[in-house]
Amino acid sequence: MGLKGHPILKNSKEIEILRKANAIVMEILLTLKEAVRPGVSTFEFEELALELCERKRVKPAFKGYRGYPYALCVSVNEEVVHGMPRKDKILKEGDIVSFDFGVVYDGYVGDAAITVGVGKISEEARRLLETTEEALRFAIEKARVGNKIGDISHAIQRRVEREGFNVIRDFVGHGIGRSLHEPPEVPNYGKPGRGLRLEPGLVLAIEPMVSAGSYEVVILNDGWTAVTRDGSLSAHFEHSVAITPSGPIILSQV
Ligand code: MF3
Ligand code: CO
Repeated sequence: MGLKGHPILKNSKEIEILRKANAIVMEILLTLKEAVRPGVSTFEFEELALELCERKRVKPAFKGYRGYPYALCVSVNEEVVHGMPRKDKILKEGDIVSFDFGVVYDGYVGDAAITVGVGKISEEARRLLETTEEALRFAIEKARVGNKIGDISHAIQRRVEREGFNVIRDFVGHGIGRSLHEPPEVPNYGKPGRGLRLEPGLVLAIEPMVSAGSYEVVILNDGWTAVTRDGSLSAHFEHSVAITPSGPIILSQV
């Protein structure tokens, strides 16, 4: 399913199922976070995520999607997104690690991401995590009926650039529902008042990806892992959010 075309609006019953799917995603992400410490390989988080999927009787949403071979994306330091779990990639004190994860529950997809520090991290890393997470909160605040996609995009860009950081251009947020990726695209940069008008029933995965340096990325030889070209640190936070007449509902919240 591509990102072009008309958004698929969801009724309140579908939003409740999406809430359940996304709550499971966030529960699993928080369990992964608890397991973060120096000496753990990124593959161990893949194994833990798969085990938690079995226990909760849900299917991982990423495994097999466009040929992606794993359930989890684990992106360390200069890795922006789509980091492949590896037995020889060992976390060390001072690293930052992003977990991006999705499940299918009752035919609907949940998708969320968090970035966490390994032990004590640098002041720049701490500021990068705080900025990216706050950019997501500001964006969600704009996810209201009558606003435009550009209002969400601009809120992210403004918060990030105020800090001297840059938003990644090559990847975007997206609509979500029965498919992981549905229209519309939700860029992390843009102008207020531009783009699609937000309507009740629209469900968006909003996912700022931020570089502490340049926003240029390159894809590694594995065909998936996106890294910053200049090697600078990158962070990623993602929530799936429903737009309703009474305001945004963060579905991936526990
Ligand atoms: N959260 C990511 C996204 O929305 C997950 C996609 S990874 C893939 O694009 F492996 F499934 F492609
Ligand atoms: Co996503």
